[in-house]
Amino acid sequence: MTVRNPFTPGSGLAPPHFANRDAELELFRDSLRSTLAGAPRHVAVLGDWALGKTSLLLQCQRLADAQGVLTALVGANPESPAALSDSLARNLSLQVHASYGEAPSQPSRGASDRPRPDTRERASHAPPPAASEAQAELREHLRRVWRHVRRRATGVLVLIDDLDRAKDVPRTAALLRGALAELGPTGAKVMLVVAGAPDAFAPLVAARSPLAAFLQPAKLGRLSEAAMREAVTRPIAEAPMRFDDEVVGRMAELAAGHPYYLQELAYHTFELARRDNRATRQAFELALEQTFYRLSLTLFEPRVASLSASEQRLLAVLVDLARPASHGAAVEAAAEAGLNAASVPKLLRRLKAKGCVAQATHGPAKRRYSVPDPLFREYVRRHVHSFN
Ligand SMILES: Nc1ncnc2c1ncn2[C@@H]1O[C@H](COP(=O)(O)OP(=O)(O)O)[C@@H](O)[C@H]1O
Ligand SMILES: [Mg+2]
Repeated sequence: MTVRNPFTPGSGLAPPHFANRDAELELFRDSLRSTLAGAPRHVAVLGDWALGKTSLLLQCQRLADAQGVLTALVGANPESPAALSDSLARNLSLQVHASYGEAPSQPSRGASDRPRPDTRERASHAPPPAASEAQAELREHLRRVWRHVRRRATGVLVLIDDLDRAKDVPRTAALLRGALAELGPTGAKVMLVVAGAPDAFAPLVAARSPLAAFLQPAKLGRLSEAAMREAVTRPIAEAPMRFDDEVVGRMAELAAGHPYYLQELAYHTFELARRDNRATRQAFELALEQTFYRLSLTLFEPRVASLSASEQRLLAVLVDLARPASHGAAVEAAAEAGLNAASVPKLLRRLKAKGCVAQATHGPAKRRYSVPDPLFREYVRRHVHSFN
């Protein structure tokens, strides 16, 4: 019988071992406790691409579910705040139906059946009618759901993923805040968790924003070395499979705290170690090629393709240097590889602007240039050449 590969490289796939994130889960648990005690508190999960926002939401959902909370998880509908409100209402009704075999009465006028005026042109200080209507509808629906389930569920948890993808993030957030604030005095135990990329989202929860008191931020960083090791070894602890310690160390080094990279590396390593049930360094080298193949399709190849031929060559020169390079060292190495020295400052600026090269802002390597992503660095080392 073939042993199932436990690793989950892919957006929104809950990992076999959910590593780290203790602080974020603690914030969630505290807020849920407060909500269930009658004082709702809400959370914003902030994290860049593939750092584990959806996985964290799924984990929160699981925790709440185990406490008898009715939960609904939706992706932010990019169309409009009203559409998001509609999809939330629909999802909650389905959840109620799935849990208790019946649904609360629907709002008297189906929000989604009615054409909505396009309100994007209006002045931002006056809430457009459609948005305030949507806010009232959402509040009503949440109130109705809570009244319907209050004897059977301990509370209601609404999770909204990728809120930064909504067309109008501030207005959508304001709608959610408005609906929940109005719901407060009714005693409804309804909690909200939203997730999104920090760029689009952080201003909303910044200290001075009116939303700050409403959404407590939980900022996702990279996984620690110990957490990465656990994420890779725990899922195979019971399986007839071993990853050599050296391999685990190399995975952690290349993933550099990035959970998606880690799952991708672990998945292919598992596949290539099947024959001996042991991942050796050789097996890992092959797994790395598979990983690059996968990542190059969506990530690395487009990134390299966006560079000019000279930029690609300079990038290859930089990854070949043993340590972060001073400006002078970069120019010298580039000239040795046949690049025109005078063009190097401009090329460095462009590589920086495209996010392929970073310049340290402090510490002993201050102002030195390097390629910050170790997996991308290894990819460039293998697939991009410094010579013509
Ligand atoms: N805490 C974690 N421990 C281990 N793997 C994780 C963790 N969080 C996320 N992952 C993995 O990382 C990848 C990206 O996670 P995902 O939740 O989709 O990120 P995001 O929603 O931020 O884009 C998935 O393959 C997932 O299984
Ligand atoms: Mg996601």
